[in-house]
Amino acid sequence: MVNNSRIIVSLDYPDPLQAMELANKLDPGCCKLKVGKELFTRSGPEFVKKLVHSGFPVFLDLKFHDIPNTVAAACTAATELGIWMLNVHASGGMKMISAAREAIDKASHKPLLIAVTVLTSLADDDLAVVGVNGSVKQQVLRLARISSDSGADGVVCSAQEVAMLRQEISPSFCLVTPGIRPRGAEANDQIRIVTPSDAIESGSDYLVIGRPITQAREPLQALLSIEQEVNAALLKVRKPAAGTLNP
Ligand code: C5P
Repeated sequence: MVNNSRIIVSLDYPDPLQAMELANKLDPGCCKLKVGKELFTRSGPEFVKKLVHSGFPVFLDLKFHDIPNTVAAACTAATELGIWMLNVHASGGMKMISAAREAIDKASHKPLLIAVTVLTSLADDDLAVVGVNGSVKQQVLRLARISSDSGADGVVCSAQEVAMLRQEISPSFCLVTPGIRPRGAEANDQIRIVTPSDAIESGSDYLVIGRPITQAREPLQALLSIEQEVNAALLKVRKPAAGTLNP
């Protein structure tokens, strides 16, 4: 079954039962799911395999960041779960990203390799505090270039940087954007936020959406309304999402 959905629902629940309750209500052909650090630390690979077995394309968002050998080994282990997408921190450097690429290329199942640029919870001031000179935009561009040069299939960035990256990097480079907030929704800890329709219109391939869905009184209704907004925006853009064919 081809799943063309641009929405990745972030299963950020403290309890795997709650996460499974939402997953059970969703159609595996109509959205993708993201398992992040909280859920993975509680429920582990078995939970991921269950979602994959139910037919969901799964983004394993563990943001690997370590020496190249360790990241490569972690990527190999992740490929064994049958996932659709995984990620590493681009700031781990070119050797680390290339090692992840090689590990995935050797595996029989090859998820998309995505590198995280600058977290959407950070602004220019936050970068200065950790010793990064320059703006968030400059840093995102720098990290996206080294990710592309090291063989990543795409990057995680804010939709605020998508138009810039689309001008600088190949159209087939996959842009995954968290920090998505429907108009009027709480920003929570995210800073560089964008609405679902603006993200699609500026060229995002996939929108990662957590709290606007998981903390809504009616999560399914919230997803449906975001889906309608995304579909309306997609009528204005012609580009198919990078990574659609995998799987
Ligand atoms: O609830 P919210 O929509 O803010 O959730 C965003 C999700 O995307 C979280 O699981 C967060 O860990 C993840 N993420 C992010 N920024 C990145 C990479 C991943 O917010 N750069």
